[in-house]
Amino acid sequence: MRRANPPEGPPAPDAEGLMTSPAAARNLAPILDVLLPHLPRKGEVLEIASGTGEHVAAFAAHRPDLTFRPSDPDPTRRRAIDARCRGLPNVAAAIDLDACESGWANALGPVEAVIVVNLLHLISDGEMSVLLDEAGRILGPSGRLAIYGPFLRDGMATSEGDAGFHAALQAQDPAIGLKDIEVVTTVLGVLDLSPQVVEMPANNLMILGRRGTGVPGL
Ligand SMILES: C[S@@+](CC[C@H](N)C(=O)[O-])C[C@H]1O[C@@H](n2cnc3c(N)ncnc32)[C@H](O)[C@@H]1O
Repeated sequence: MRRANPPEGPPAPDAEGLMTSPAAARNLAPILDVLLPHLPRKGEVLEIASGTGEHVAAFAAHRPDLTFRPSDPDPTRRRAIDARCRGLPNVAAAIDLDACESGWANALGPVEAVIVVNLLHLISDGEMSVLLDEAGRILGPSGRLAIYGPFLRDGMATSEGDAGFHAALQAQDPAIGLKDIEVVTTVLGVLDLSPQVVEMPANNLMILGRRGTGVPGL
């Protein structure tokens, strides 16, 4: 697992073990608007890189009919996720998952949906390939995928803020940084996850992938 430092610093747990991320709080409402209609009618949803658990707690509160499995490779964050989701009967204990290591799809078994928020820019191209390939494997014939974050378009950042963020990430580790949206959607197409790209606030994008339509974007 790589350790890139976000610009606002890593979240720290409070006395009750709860962590809060200003970014997660900021982007929650627009993510809910786009994600909730995309989730399946029933089944299990895996969240990769759950971080503070603020997102998965909100997803689970809005969709009590689905079961959510949060995950993170960082043990402090897993404790924070479990603390945040205590009392939500449809959230399983956070699992230790490095999504860039091959083999997790077979180990975890099928799920109906996979959610990834603000991770792809923190990993290398090769690690992203592993993550997407494993996500494709764990999803069944009607599986859904949602990926949110900042992306390059035609290889370029689309704002000064994103350009600075990309440069700062690459200064920490030249292998990481914002990924090109075309690369991600091409891979999802190959994995039969017909991708639809949704513009989000603050120049971010949500990529929604869905199996079983035969038509890109549906
Ligand atoms: C920027 S935070 C995003 C957290 C959360 N999704 C959010 O939006 O608030 C990145 C998270 O990715 C996790 N992470 C880092 N490398 C990972 C990997 N290889 N596989 C899965 N998660 C990883 C970190 O532990 C951290 O919780």
